[in-house]
Amino acid sequence: MVAETQKTGGLKKVLGPFDLILMGIGAIVGTGIFVLTGTGALTAGPALTVSFIVAAIACGFAAMCYAEFASTVPVAGSIYTYSYAVLGELVAWMIGWDLLLEYGLATSTVAVGWSGYFQSLLHGYGLEIPAALSAAPGAREGVHTVMNLPALCIMLLLTWMLSLGVRESARVNNIMVAIKMTVVVLFILFGFGHVNTDNWHPYAPFGASGIMSAAALVFFAFIGFDAVTSAAEEVKRPARDLPIGIIGSLAICTLLYVIVAAIMTGIVPFAQFKGIDHPVSLALQHAGENWLAKWTDLGAILGMTTVMLVMAYGQTRIIFAMSRDGLLPAKLSTVHPKYGTPYLATWMVGIVFGVIAAFVPLNVLAELVNIGTLAAFCLVSVAVIVLRNKRPDLKRAFRCPGVPVVPAIAVLFCLALMAFLSLVTWIAFGIWLALGLVVYFGYARSRSVLNKVPAKV
Ligand code: ALA
Repeated sequence: MVAETQKTGGLKKVLGPFDLILMGIGAIVGTGIFVLTGTGALTAGPALTVSFIVAAIACGFAAMCYAEFASTVPVAGSIYTYSYAVLGELVAWMIGWDLLLEYGLATSTVAVGWSGYFQSLLHGYGLEIPAALSAAPGAREGVHTVMNLPALCIMLLLTWMLSLGVRESARVNNIMVAIKMTVVVLFILFGFGHVNTDNWHPYAPFGASGIMSAAALVFFAFIGFDAVTSAAEEVKRPARDLPIGIIGSLAICTLLYVIVAAIMTGIVPFAQFKGIDHPVSLALQHAGENWLAKWTDLGAILGMTTVMLVMAYGQTRIIFAMSRDGLLPAKLSTVHPKYGTPYLATWMVGIVFGVIAAFVPLNVLAELVNIGTLAAFCLVSVAVIVLRNKRPDLKRAFRCPGVPVVPAIAVLFCLALMAFLSLVTWIAFGIWLALGLVVYFGYARSRSVLNKVPAKV
């Protein structure tokens, strides 16, 4: 196998377009649809479908910008690398720092969602995890909890898998994506007949602000398509395959989400989703399809596993790129001689964000992930315009249509969603960015290997 692969920068080139679409879906369909739809329905009512569309539009416009970047500068490290070439080191550092928050905390968030479904499945077999080890401190009203042990365990297990290599992980990922998609399609097929259209009235009980607040939350359900770009160095034909991977996976997921949201709110009166952390299987139980509800629990668990796998993968590749550029310690870009993976970065990510998953509640994590991602989307959209002006001659395998209007719309939608996130989230995000500046000027800047030579585009 090694003999057949080309090598660039130490990473094996093994991924094709099909792997990328599955990788995208693997990163996208997870906690957002399986867990956060309940809260979303409570916030927007049946108009949750509109919230999904609003969030999808924001992602769709940003995806065009991502795809242009991804097909222009196909090297490891997601938009961090692209911004390094376009906007200079400080902006690239801030974006990389922002993405560390996005991918890392998204992995933690999904691990917490996974833990909820896992415990629900165990419960079905009469097994319980001690309450103290079942959730982060303060996560369950009226219950004394110390840590979320299942969330920590799944993070460590996946870290081990990732450290064994991309190809192996991608194969496991493909199987789990197939199972997850089957569950979602079965939900649609069996749920459809149980829809009572009376439940769709009133359609938007909380008006436009309810729709926007829910959109700011369920935006989480779309996060992940950009993880495809992080794999650029391991793609066989990046110029053609990356845009296919990004836009293809996003389009498929948007369609599924809108249908699932419509069916869920059509089966269950939205107010009944209060306090429910398995809304999709609840809808099936409500419809009397108990056998499918159980399979849905299992599919959700596997679905969320794939999300974590791809997120953690993206995270390690950003760290790899930042370390290779001298912005993070060189040890983190050490590639394993046998497996060809940045194994030290992989283990660091697994342990740090596993511990965070063990001690921080889901809603706090999800909001932080959303603000970090929306900010990154704004930056990449601006960067598309900057690059078109700075380097109009540059060969772009994929060109974002309608520049500068499309990137400008992406920025507007992302800012609008950010405006509906809580003040606490904004403050925490500000602190993270300030910390990033301190680390940059205190450590990274003086050690950068690239700031002395002109950036290559
Ligand atoms: N979009 C991913 C999810 O819903 C992060 O879990």
